[in-house]
Order: sequence, then structure tokens, then C-alpha cells
Amino acid sequence: MDRRRVLIDTDPGVDDAIAILLAFASPEIEVVAITAVAGNVGLDKTALNARRLADLVDRPVVVAAGCAEPLSDPVTEDSVVHGRDGLGDLEWDEPRTILDPRHATEVIYDAAVEGPLTIVAIGPLTNLAVALERHPDLESMVERVVIMGGASFEGNVTPAAEFNIWVDPEAARRVFAASWPIDLMPLDLTHQAYLVDEDLEEMRSWGTVIGERCSGMLEPYAAFHDEWYGNRDVIMHDAMCVYELVSPGAITLQGVRLAVEVAGEHARGATFIDRRRALADSVQRVGVHVDNAQFRRFLLDRLHSLTPRS
Ligand code: RIB
Ligand code: CA
Repeated sequence: MDRRRVLIDTDPGVDDAIAILLAFASPEIEVVAITAVAGNVGLDKTALNARRLADLVDRPVVVAAGCAEPLSDPVTEDSVVHGRDGLGDLEWDEPRTILDPRHATEVIYDAAVEGPLTIVAIGPLTNLAVALERHPDLESMVERVVIMGGASFEGNVTPAAEFNIWVDPEAARRVFAASWPIDLMPLDLTHQAYLVDEDLEEMRSWGTVIGERCSGMLEPYAAFHDEWYGNRDVIMHDAMCVYELVSPGAITLQGVRLAVEVAGEHARGATFIDRRRALADSVQRVGVHVDNAQFRRFLLDRLHSLTPRS
């Protein structure tokens, strides 16, 4: 089987962590690099969390730090959704994995030069936008970009905007304007995919490091969901991007044209998804539907199969 080369650009983030672990547990893809961006928490923490996750999977992978601030309107405080450290505030050893000396934008470009590349973008799009500015030929070299972001109807940071786009709408506009094929997984899709308490219990029953770490990270994230949404269904936003790559057909996709609002008292970060039938064959697609029972079983079986090499 030819494995798809994948670079994951991320702001870990508990749901980022599950997505990253699913990627490493999937033989269909080879994760060639993890690039960190500021988002859920500051870059110092997202880069540290990327190193922690690389250690956890115990696989050779490049880990690099990218942009610490969005293209405009710096984020003033860390999100509390994922805990103070961004991964549910568990105890971690100092990671063995060290950061690559290159900036994330150079790792992204070098990975595209080295061979066919799919980018999974599961945080704010700052690194991708800056990589496009520094390397205008990048958009013609990348096979596909699968993005968690946006919302067709209602946001999660404001009524209009989803977090990843809201943090850096200018970057999103630049990424959406590029010629590379894009698959966008917006909130109206990702809210269909969630884990429940019995799934966390199953992870704990494995008696493995992966099971202990996943259930440990997800517990405070479930408590946040209970406070925010009134139930402990833990939404697996970022995992939808990996699921699309490792289980083709599991997510229903639709050809669209994407646009983003970059300014506005109420609309900043809003995504506008044009679904006219004439766009059915567009290189920009949006995820529409996923079967949660099927996704949960797939995710748990893959994570249960993930064992450190040593
Ligand atoms: O809105 C959900 C997105 O914002 C996810 O990527 C989550 O990790 C946060 O970054
Ligand atoms: Ca994320």
C-alpha cells in the first residue's frame, strides 16, 4: 500500500491530540511532520505538546514551531477549554523529542518539495498563510489541504465564527484563495462526531499508556463540554480531518466555494459556504455528514491498536 505523506499543522489541544494519535495509528498515512501554531494555547505550549505527543507515539517525526501570533489582532489569553497546558493538565515527563531548528513554514515547504504531500490543518491557519507568502509555488505543490474550521450556520467563539478561523481570518482568507484542493470540516459536520463516557471507560480498560493518556486528556475536556453544552459528549472536531484521509467515503463531501469575513463588529471570522449545484465539481469541498457510531468504533479500534515501538 502506498502510504499518503501527511503534515499535521496543529495547536494541541485535546482534540488535536486525538487526531494526531489516530493519524499515527493508521497505516494508510505516514506523518512526516507536526508543525505547531499558536491557537488553543500559546506557541510555547502547543510546541511542547507536539513534542509530548511525538514521544507518546514513539515514532520518528519532525516537530517544529511556527507562528506565535496571527497575522493581525494578537490573541491576548489562552483558551481554558483544553486546560492550562492545552492537553488537560496531566503530568508529563520532559519530552525527548526536540524541535527541528527550521521554522514551521520552512518544514511545510521542504516537505512539499520532498514529495507528494497532504496537509492536515487543525488549528488557526497562520503557518499555512505565511508559508504561502514565503513560497508562492507551494500551493501548486501540495496535493490536498484538509482543514478543521468554519461553520455553515453558527460559530463557537462568536455566533458567527468558529475558533480556528476567528483567531486568524486573514490567514484563512489567504489559504482559501490559493489554488490547492481544500476539504473543509466545519462545526456543523464536527458536532456530529463525539465520544461519550462509555468510550472513555473503554480507553481506561485497555490498561495501556495510550488509553490512560487519551482518557486522562478527555476527562476535563468532557467536563468543559458539560459546562458549555450541557452534556459530556466530547466533540472530535480535528479527528474529522484524519478520518477523511484514512476512511475515504465515511464523510459525505460536497463541492462548494469558500469565503471568509475578515472584519466586522459581529461577522469577523465568519465563513460563507456557497453550495450552488454548479460548484459540485469544485476543488473546494465541505464535509456534510458522518455516522458517529461508525466513527467511534473506528477511532477506538485504531487507538487501541497504537502501541509505542519500544
Ligand atoms: O473550533 C474547534 C477548533 O478549535 C479545534 O481545532 C480545536 O482544537 C480548536 O483549535
Ligand atoms: Ca485544534
